[in-house]
Amino acid sequence: MAGVLKFPDNFLLGTATSPTQVEGHVVNEWTDYVAADGGHCRMACNHYHRYAEDVEWMAQLGVNAYRMGIEWSRLQSAPYAPLNQKELERYIDLLDQLKTASITPMVVLHHFSNPPWVTAGGGWLSPAAVPAFVDYTTKLVPTLKDRVWLWNTFNEPDTYASLTYLLGGFPPFHKWHFMSYRKVIKHMAEAHMRASRVIRSAGNGGRTPEIGIAKNWTFFGAFQKFALWDQLLAGISHHTFNRFVLKQFFGGRRREASTFLGVNYYGLARFKNLQPTVPAGGARPEQLAQLGVVCDDMFERHPGGLGTVLRDFHRRYGLPLYVTEHGAAAADEDFRIRDLTAHLRELRGAINDGVDARGFFYWSLLDNFEWQFGYSKKFGLVSVDFSDGTLPRRMTRVGEFYRGICRTAREVTH
Ligand code: FCB
Repeated sequence: MAGVLKFPDNFLLGTATSPTQVEGHVVNEWTDYVAADGGHCRMACNHYHRYAEDVEWMAQLGVNAYRMGIEWSRLQSAPYAPLNQKELERYIDLLDQLKTASITPMVVLHHFSNPPWVTAGGGWLSPAAVPAFVDYTTKLVPTLKDRVWLWNTFNEPDTYASLTYLLGGFPPFHKWHFMSYRKVIKHMAEAHMRASRVIRSAGNGGRTPEIGIAKNWTFFGAFQKFALWDQLLAGISHHTFNRFVLKQFFGGRRREASTFLGVNYYGLARFKNLQPTVPAGGARPEQLAQLGVVCDDMFERHPGGLGTVLRDFHRRYGLPLYVTEHGAAAADEDFRIRDLTAHLRELRGAINDGVDARGFFYWSLLDNFEWQFGYSKKFGLVSVDFSDGTLPRRMTRVGEFYRGICRTAREVTH
């Protein structure tokens, strides 16, 4: 196995989190939100105060990269306001600790959350969000440019826009507002274009900045081959969530705004009687077991799809690729280890075929606040016991396994 799972020189083997899910003490549209399990994000993993310890966990894992968010709502309390220095310094300290641990940061600028004044102004439905985001970027990027060269402007614009305006899962919980969905994607694509110019012109202390988005990629299908309605729904989903979004961000000359494309890959959603047969879509585990669907606590697994999407993106856009997220949530750690192995094999296979993939970020470093599902989904390489007020961390067997992968990869690179 070790032979198969070696990666090229300078390959980033990392892990990922997002501010609302781990930091705690955030004031954004999630602060008052109560998830299906009764959980809320007010404390989360308290990474806000415990980041030094969490960097140590990363060092123990042996990862050489960390995809982390910077929370806009912490830094700008009003439109076009100067950045909050104290909060900025906290992030700078985190970045410095990562540097000491030889961990390369990839910074995400938008991960499903906004400052309250953006929300009050209509969120991303309003064209005003675009210049506000560009202003924030213009103030933030020069302060970090000596510490950060990998910039991920938007995390999964597709997931964000669909859960806010189509599926009703994220605040403001609207359903089937197709025009709103499209508008949000268009505004985010516009903001990405403009922010990418800002990042480019800010330059970087040592190396040229890299700029990209993280696109969620889900395969859609029909559970029964000849179920026409299910096929139609799969086709519409593919067009809406995949094709339309890629066109907005990468169509024509827009592609030039990005120097890489990030892929968040979890798997497959197949429809049966117009319902997705995945736990994240509400299907019951017993029903899925009966249907023979292999899934984690969220999506149907489809490791081969990772190779397919990487090859397809490589052919289509010719950009360097990062797997900006992949992981599995399950109580069964052997299942998670098998899942990780299968996906890394696919990634390695794609690289062998000439795909320029430069990194893999396991979702997630810690068990955390999984949006609508609260604390019920265990994605962490390091587990967190949320029933204990001290939020103790513990290395999982998946973490031990990933450490082995990181160590093996290192033998090649150094
Ligand atoms: C992705 C999100 C991330 C997390 C994982 C499980 O869609 O980017 O925040 O919720 O799914």
